[in-house]
Parts: sequence; structure tokens; C-alpha cells
Amino acid sequence: MGIGETAADRWVLRRANGAQDVPLESMKSQMGPDVVDMRHLYQQAGVFSYDPGFANTASCQSAITYIDGEEGLLLHRGYPIEQLCEKASFTDVAWLLSHGELPDARQKARFEQGLMAEAHLHEQIRNFFNGFRRDSHPMAMLCGTLAGLSSFYGNQEADQRHRITPEEREMSTLRLVAKMPTLAAWVYRYSRGLPLIYPRPGLSYAENCLHMLFSMPEAPWQVNPVLARAFDRILILHADHGQNVSTSTVRTVGSTGVNPFACIAAGVAALWGPAHGGANEAVLDMLDEIGTVDGIPAFMERVRNREDGTRLMGFGHRVYKKLDPRAGLMRRICHEVLAELGMDHDPRLELALRLEETALNDEYFISRRLYPNVDFYSGIILRAMGIPSSMFTVFFAVARTAGWVAQWKEMLESRPGISRPRALYVGQTRRDVPSSYGAEN
Ligand code: CMC
Repeated sequence: MGIGETAADRWVLRRANGAQDVPLESMKSQMGPDVVDMRHLYQQAGVFSYDPGFANTASCQSAITYIDGEEGLLLHRGYPIEQLCEKASFTDVAWLLSHGELPDARQKARFEQGLMAEAHLHEQIRNFFNGFRRDSHPMAMLCGTLAGLSSFYGNQEADQRHRITPEEREMSTLRLVAKMPTLAAWVYRYSRGLPLIYPRPGLSYAENCLHMLFSMPEAPWQVNPVLARAFDRILILHADHGQNVSTSTVRTVGSTGVNPFACIAAGVAALWGPAHGGANEAVLDMLDEIGTVDGIPAFMERVRNREDGTRLMGFGHRVYKKLDPRAGLMRRICHEVLAELGMDHDPRLELALRLEETALNDEYFISRRLYPNVDFYSGIILRAMGIPSSMFTVFFAVARTAGWVAQWKEMLESRPGISRPRALYVGQTRRDVPSSYGAEN
């Protein structure tokens, strides 16, 4: 019995009125729970399944990322995130997500050359920015300009034939991963009124991100290997996370066969929401609000009493009921970065450490299995590196593009047909527009 094929377990949907049972097959997973196959439920039983938010529904088959929230396990193509973070670079992980294996030396060199060659943006794209207010939200600019790239890098031929060939998929994957840092950095530079900086050959992917953010024409950013490696690992930790809302959005939009730039722009829009990509910014706001370690007891009291819905930001996760494996790695990176910058006695770090310790020993958090998540430390690191909080989600999007394109490619290769959920209809039954309507209007 193969993975993704019919499993030994069979299920029946039993009707209470004594009518015939409806047999349901289950499908075998490689790891984690098998799934009940509902594809023919309507034909078999005349009903739909109801699962708002799809919390109990597998919407696709995927071989990219496996998460076990009970065990605190995150695997990309089978490799634990901890090992990838230690041994691989972000570009290795981007290749791994899309191609299923880590690149060998030749593939790695070619991929990185390709990324460098495609990192530039068409010069006319500079003009897009002039339409935005300087104080626009960076995610608004990213979303808008990214969708606009489809008019430069789209393929009208592919649009007409309603099919994207494997070669076009490869090219789009490369282009999207390559161009996102340039676009992200330009969003920031425009918002500050700074000259736009071009990617520099010879720098790594993470170094180029920092170079395009911080260089000035007269004073190029000086490569700092500790900060560059830290930034690279932050990108790795955000590269993919299974069928979360932005990834599901990319798959859904992509199922229409639309241009991949438009597809990833839809993912960016989904990521923008504070319930998804904006939590690390909220952690910094919370630390500022608490002020000093002396403010912790009063703040914790507010959380326990749910005053005004106060939550400990950076804690808790829909999937992880143990420590998010990315959170421990983030904590380590945080210490390394602050030490490098001579900020290891930063009061904000001290406050975060004490807050974490207090929560982990608090009955409210223990009984609800609430642990730090990936966002608890990432904001502190990025802020210390000089990246403004409004840009945090933008760089989350840069990293997640590696996962989005891999999931988009996998979706196209599985030829699933267009995404089209149903609804439990609770509106009016059929009725006629009153005969008098329109006469008076
Ligand atoms: N602070 C205080 N109480 C909390 C928190 C928190 N951070 N998170 C959950 N709870 C409580 C909640 O009040 C509820 O209590 P009760 O059962 O007594 O009503 C219980 O824990 C379960 O909460 P829930 O909202 O049903 O859990 P969920 O799985 O739907 O929510 C969450 C997950 C991430 C939305 C939530 O934990 C939260 O709001 N955390 C703070 C925001 C945050 O850090 N978000 C980043 C998530 S990680 C992003 C990523 O993976 O990319």
C-alpha cells in the first residue's frame, strides 16, 4: 500500500434514519494522521462536509513540509529545521523546497548564479513606486508592485495556452526568489526617500538583502558575517510552514492557472494580516508597553484576566502544543546578534527573557500548553539590526516566497483542477423581486 493510496482503514458514514451506510476510504500518509477521502461524498451521499477554516481538512497532497505540533517537529523534505539551520544556507533550502533534494555543488553554483542574474528589476519598475505615498504601508507597496511585475515577466503565450510548461515554472520560481529582496529593499528605500540600490555580484543572498537595505552610494554596507549568517537563518526559519493561510491562498489562486507573480502577490496580501505575518511587530509593541521587568507582574495579571483581550504576543500556536522548534533557534540567533552588536545587555532582551521565563512557569500558560513561537525573538533581532518594524512582514514575505513557489509548482504538477469550496447555504429561499420594485427607482 503506497503513500497517498487507499489505506487499510475503511470508514462508513451512518445515517440515523436507517438508510444505507455510505462507505468512505481512507488514504495513507507518510507521517501523521491518514485522511478520509471525501472527494466523492456528494455523489455517494448527497451531502457536503462542513469545516470552516479547513482546520480538519487536507486540501492537497504535499511532500514539502511536515509539522507535528504535538512533538514540536518541523521537517522540510524530511530534514529537521534545526539541521537545515545549522548546515544549509537559505538558497540551499529554497532549492530543497522546490526540487526535493539539497543541491549538489554544481546545482548550487548554477542556482546562485541564476539568482544573481535575475535579481535585477526592469528599470521601468522604478516608476511604479512614484505612484505611492511615501508613508504607504510597505506591504501595500510590495503587494502592488509584485502584481505589476507580471506585466514585465508574464508570458502571454502561456496565458493563451492556459498551461505553464515545466521550463516556465522553473524560470518563474527562479525569478520570484531572485527579485523579491530587490523589491523589498526598494520598498524600504522609497519610503525613506533614499536612492535605490542595485544587487551586488559576489554577495550572498542574505548579504545582498542587507546591502540593498543599508548601502549608500558613497558608503557601501560593510559585510558583517555574523549579521549576514543570522539574517540567512531568519530567512530559513520563515521559508515554509505547510498549508498556512498565505500558502493555501497561493495554491488556490494558482489553481486558476494565473501568472505566478499575481499568485505570489495574493500570498503577500494574505500574509499582511496581523493574525498571520504581523505578530513579531506586535511583540515589540508589547515589550515597549510593559517597559521594564518591574512591569511584568501587572502585565501578566492583565493577560490572565483577559483585560481588553490582552495576550502575550509571541506565545501560543494553532499547531504547536510544545515549543515551536523555530523559537529555540531564534532565541540563539538573538543572543548571537546582540552580542555582535554589543547589545547583550539590552534592556529589551532582558525583559523578553524574564517574560518568557515567567510565562513558562505560570499555571495559565502551562495548563493551556502555550510556548514561545517563532515571533517572540525575531522582532528583537531585526530591530537590533536596524530594520524598522514596518519591514518585518516584508522580509517574512521574501523568505516565504521560497515556500510559496515550491507549493505552487507542486500544485501545478498534481493538476488538481480549480479550487472551489462549497457553502452551507443559510440565506433566503427562492423568492421573486416585488413587481413594484424598480418602478419608483
Ligand atoms: N496569550 C494569552 N492567552 C493565550 C494566548 C496568548 N498568546 N494564546 C492562546 N491563549 C489562550 C486563549 O485565551 C485560550 O484560552 P481559553 O481556552 O481559556 O479560552 C487558549 O489559550 C487557546 O487559545 P486559542 O486562541 O483557541 O488558540 P489558537 O490555537 O486558536 O490560537 C494563536 C493560536 C497563535 C492565534 C494564539 O496563540 C495567539 O493569539 N498568540 C499570540 C499572537 C502570536 O504570537 N501569533 C503568532 C503565531 S505564530 C506565526 C507563525 O507560525 O508563522
